[in-house]
Amino acid sequence: MLCSYGHAGRHNTFCILNYLMDAKIETIETKIFSEVVADEIVASIGEAISERGRCSVSLAGGGTPGSVYRLLARPPRVSEIDWSKVSFYWGDERWVPNTNTQSNFKMVQETLLSHIPAPGPTVYPVDTSLKSPEDGARAYGDLVCEVEQTKPGEIPQLDIVLLGIGEDGHTASLFPGTSVVTAKGKMAYALKHPTDGSSRVTLSSEVLFSGKKIFFIVNGDTKAAMMKRVLKGSDPVEVIPARLYLGARGQVTFFLDSGAATQL
Ligand code: 6PG
Repeated sequence: MLCSYGHAGRHNTFCILNYLMDAKIETIETKIFSEVVADEIVASIGEAISERGRCSVSLAGGGTPGSVYRLLARPPRVSEIDWSKVSFYWGDERWVPNTNTQSNFKMVQETLLSHIPAPGPTVYPVDTSLKSPEDGARAYGDLVCEVEQTKPGEIPQLDIVLLGIGEDGHTASLFPGTSVVTAKGKMAYALKHPTDGSSRVTLSSEVLFSGKKIFFIVNGDTKAAMMKRVLKGSDPVEVIPARLYLGARGQVTFFLDSGAATQL
């Protein structure tokens, strides 16, 4: 069921709010897209801290979130968050040194972490210096459970999970046709990128979609066709992993700029 509400955000610019299968779809004018998303993240971090004294965030990689991270790291937003109460995880990581240009840690370091005044957040990057991606995934899953004090047999429930969506429908490093999309039992997995064969580590779909708040951040008309399939199609998750949102435990919000929403 799709119902639309219009609401004026803090910028008094019209954003369209739809609801579909309990997911919120916020369509935002491209020119204020990153600002609206950054404001939502600030508000959600503040809400988590006031509710339980801390906030755990799984960060998205890739190209889209960088502009959002930069806004979080600058006035006014940088002083609106009590960073000392924030824990950062990475939803996925490329198996490269964290100084490599492909590294999601490096991207976050440059756009966000290096600009936050002390005392900053506590960061838990994937340790890509370990012997293998499999060792990295095992260690990462153990780390998340230890920090989040997860009971044996339970899945850690992070406060905020940020995700992008690729043109092929992947999210984090859950790629179409790979077994990790539906794998269960581990908190993180090692895998090889299906086309370029590069190694990656990803939090599991169970962890990612257990988040209390799951924010998909998608912009650009190159994503429009895929967003129509994600939100209005019926492909199984093995074909379009982003459709794992349908089984999410928490509240899912799709933040789409007008380009990504053109086919909805
Ligand atoms: C990565 C990301 C990946 C990304 C999508 C969308 O490591 O690349 O985790 O899932 O979010 O590929 O990337 P863009 O936002 O750059 O389109």
